Amino acid sequence: MRLIYLCSALLLLILLPRTCQGGNILVFPTEGSHWINMDILLQALHSRGHNLTIIRANKSWYIKDNSTYYSTYTVPVDSTLEKEFIIRVVSEIIDFERGAHPLMSFLGSTVGMLGTIVEAHEGVHEFVTTMLDDRELIRKLNDTKFDLVLTDPWWGGGAILAKYLNLPLVYNVRWLIAGEAHFGIAPSPLSYIPVTQSRCTDKMTFFQRVKNVIVHLISQTQIYLVNQIYQKICDKYLGPNNDFYQLMIDADIWLMRVDFVFDYPRPTMPNVVYMGGFQCKPAKPLPQHLEEFVQSSGEHGVIIMSLGTFVSELPADMANEIAAAFAKLPQKVIWRYKGSRPSTLANNTLLVDWMPQNDLLGHPKVKVFVAHGGTNGVQEALYHGVPVVGIPLFFDQYDNLIRLEDRGGAKILTLSTVDKDNNFLRALRQILNEPSYRMNMQRLSRLHRDQPITPMDNALFWIEFVMRHKGAAHLKPASLRMSWYSYHSVDVALFLGGAVLLMLLSTFFLIRCLCNAMCKPKVKRE
Ligand SMILES: *[C@@H]1O[C@H](CO)[C@@H](O)[C@H](O)[C@H]1NC(C)=O
Ligand SMILES: *[C@@H]1O[C@H](CO)[C@@H](O)[C@H](O)[C@H]1NC(C)=O
Ligand SMILES: *[C@@H]1O[C@H](CO)[C@@H](O)[C@H](O)[C@H]1NC(C)=O
Ligand SMILES: *[C@@H]1O[C@H](CO)[C@@H](O)[C@H](O)[C@H]1NC(C)=O
Ligand SMILES: *[C@@H]1O[C@H](CO)[C@@H](O)[C@H](O)[C@H]1NC(C)=O
Repeated sequence: MRLIYLCSALLLLILLPRTCQGGNILVFPTEGSHWINMDILLQALHSRGHNLTIIRANKSWYIKDNSTYYSTYTVPVDSTLEKEFIIRVVSEIIDFERGAHPLMSFLGSTVGMLGTIVEAHEGVHEFVTTMLDDRELIRKLNDTKFDLVLTDPWWGGGAILAKYLNLPLVYNVRWLIAGEAHFGIAPSPLSYIPVTQSRCTDKMTFFQRVKNVIVHLISQTQIYLVNQIYQKICDKYLGPNNDFYQLMIDADIWLMRVDFVFDYPRPTMPNVVYMGGFQCKPAKPLPQHLEEFVQSSGEHGVIIMSLGTFVSELPADMANEIAAAFAKLPQKVIWRYKGSRPSTLANNTLLVDWMPQNDLLGHPKVKVFVAHGGTNGVQEALYHGVPVVGIPLFFDQYDNLIRLEDRGGAKILTLSTVDKDNNFLRALRQILNEPSYRMNMQRLSRLHRDQPITPMDNALFWIEFVMRHKGAAHLKPASLRMSWYSYHSVDVALFLGGAVLLMLLSTFFLIRCLCNAMCKPKVKRE
């Protein structure tokens, strides 16, 4: 027994220096569903011996302050970051979308969302200024020698904090304040790169390209408005000549939550690292009661449904319609739903508060996933090769689902059509009876898994790379610090155009002079 203790003590001594080498990471996360995948990355960093410190708001909905694997600093704020705000927005969107004409739905999700997005960032503004005003907190942060700031730049506070403390910056990113992150850093021709909210694929007709450009302009307006909010913070705390947008796109490494099995091929940059699907894991065994329920489905299999973290309930008539559709199927159904029990619910459907989604998706009996199209769920479905019936609600969800539908792995129903004319039942039957959907998803799954290193290991490598080398300045393209006219060589074009014009003009005048000189004597001789 003693020997074992001695051995473990020795082992500990050998291992200790390694643990001490672990870095000190300051995390400025984004609240809500963004936290879910940040949390997965943090657990992996913790298990590699890194020290994690998180800045959170006192009203934080998702980010707990009593974790075993990170410590927190809590900033007291009074603003709208909380649960009630998001739940109100979601239910407004559902009510609006249900009755909406496609054009109205399109306008609502683009122009209509401007106000909401600006309001959310006003909340972050208060959070960041309260944090920077707290001298004691800033002194503590400055005294702890952090190696880097890890942030999700949907909120702009992390980039400002990194600049303020003069630390390297790593992004866990898909959205940059208001738009898709690639648009901030890599060349993005609108002719074949669909903008989020455009609901287009990479093969666009002329009118789809027109739509794509319009959506891009709306998105740029949104970025401009949000930029103004953060620029005020930069002006106040970072001194003059700090342009927020410049500062934000100057991150060292961008860990991008997409991969090219899911998204369309596009130009990228050397400091963009793809980690799409990093949160996916092989399925673990199900809890016993679920396993029994799943097995009771026999040869028919199981359908699972979850509309994500924000939608725990639906309007009663819609829920009834969905439950009635499930009742007509021989399959068993597991439905994550917190609203009151739909009256049409049959005994093949199990309502649950929460479900082990990844483990269910990896279960061979699960045939269809009814999902809202959030990135996490879509990536998990892709990883496990399960076809999807999508009911997108807002933001990027339609665009995520169209990437699966385009490759034959999903069917999309909008909120305005899902409970009409048996659409829902028809979509479920189609996916259940048509083997191509499952085969297509399985093919995507094989492509996604065939990588030299797992997306998570790739992400961890690059975070540690930034710690070892105190940044990754050598990977940052020079384009980030250029003015728009040098980037597009407008000045060069003007210069060369001017030179050519000058040459043409001087040639013209030279010829005219020569002509004059040669013609004049003739006139005299006459
Ligand atoms: C870990 O982070 C905490 C909180 O910021 C800090 O007080 C502590 O010194 C750090 N530990 C190490 C070993 O750096
Ligand atoms: C944190 O607190 C909550 C509520 O008080 C509790 O349910 C949870 O188990 C705690 N977690 C840890 C890791 O202590
Ligand atoms: C958070 O802090 C604000 C400002 O001090 C305070 O008004 C609010 O009640 C606090 N909220 C919670 C949930 O502690
Ligand atoms: C952090 O500390 C350094 C000295 O260790 C000091 O020069 C610097 O001004 C401090 N920065 C902030 C933001 O307090
Ligand atoms: C479920 O309902 C069907 C028909 O309504 C009935 O035949 C079956 O026995 C019920 N199953 C259970 C487990 O209650």
